[in-house]
Amino acid sequence: MAEIIIVDTPADAGAVAGAAIALLVDRRPDAVLGVATGSTPLPVYSDLRERLAGRDVSQVRAFALDEYVGIARDHPESYHSIIDAQVTVPLGLTRGLVQVPNGQADDLEQAALEYDAAIRAAGGIDLQLLGIGTDGHIGFNEPGSSFASRTRVKTLTPQTRSDNARFFASVDEVPRHALTQGLGTILEARHLVLLAFGESKAEAVARAVEGPMSARVPATAIHLHPHCTVIVDRAAASQLVDTAFYEYVFANKPAWQGI
Ligand code: F6R
Repeated sequence: MAEIIIVDTPADAGAVAGAAIALLVDRRPDAVLGVATGSTPLPVYSDLRERLAGRDVSQVRAFALDEYVGIARDHPESYHSIIDAQVTVPLGLTRGLVQVPNGQADDLEQAALEYDAAIRAAGGIDLQLLGIGTDGHIGFNEPGSSFASRTRVKTLTPQTRSDNARFFASVDEVPRHALTQGLGTILEARHLVLLAFGESKAEAVARAVEGPMSARVPATAIHLHPHCTVIVDRAAASQLVDTAFYEYVFANKPAWQGI
């Protein structure tokens, strides 16, 4: 099963994930990172700003999980803009090596195929950061998504649009569609690191980690992955049943094993 790490604060989670990413970059200067948007990965990016400062990250490659369809690439809330402002620029990555799905393409099906092909051509993603939606989505794989799905257009649920309305002037401005890596695409990354913070994620985390596998909870796809780390704060862990066991396992983890 996935390793569950319960931490006190999002900053602690950022440090755990940031350390794993820095180790990866040390071992592999042209590492391929899978990056997410939204609020959840921000503590990881701020940890990495300090941790990677002074290191040569010019060869690091990155692929974003998803992009809205229906807003311009230079819209401040497009994931092109967000990844540039929150990841590429602050971490000092090389712009041409950071890719985001082309949600503005005339032919979205072709853009989706090309995105999966680009990930494959890069040798696959070494470490994929994931947030989780309150409806259990990862990427924008909304409930009902096939565990075998590839990058494609998905319709955002009303719940996701309302959750993301905080980034826009009103819910009406939140796009209805996104081009997202599929669950099958995500499962090909070599290490998944799923983060969640706050009470509002507690139910989704419990369903993802301890509920039955179901397309209704896309994040349950993590159980098909041989190396998945779930890092949650106490509020997001509050509906988990087996927390004592997860804490015991983590406390007794062999010192030589990273996450
Ligand atoms: C973002 C993404 C989404 C978010 C999820 C949680 O690239 O793919 O799955 O991770 O919607 O969003 P936040 O972190 O804003 O709660």
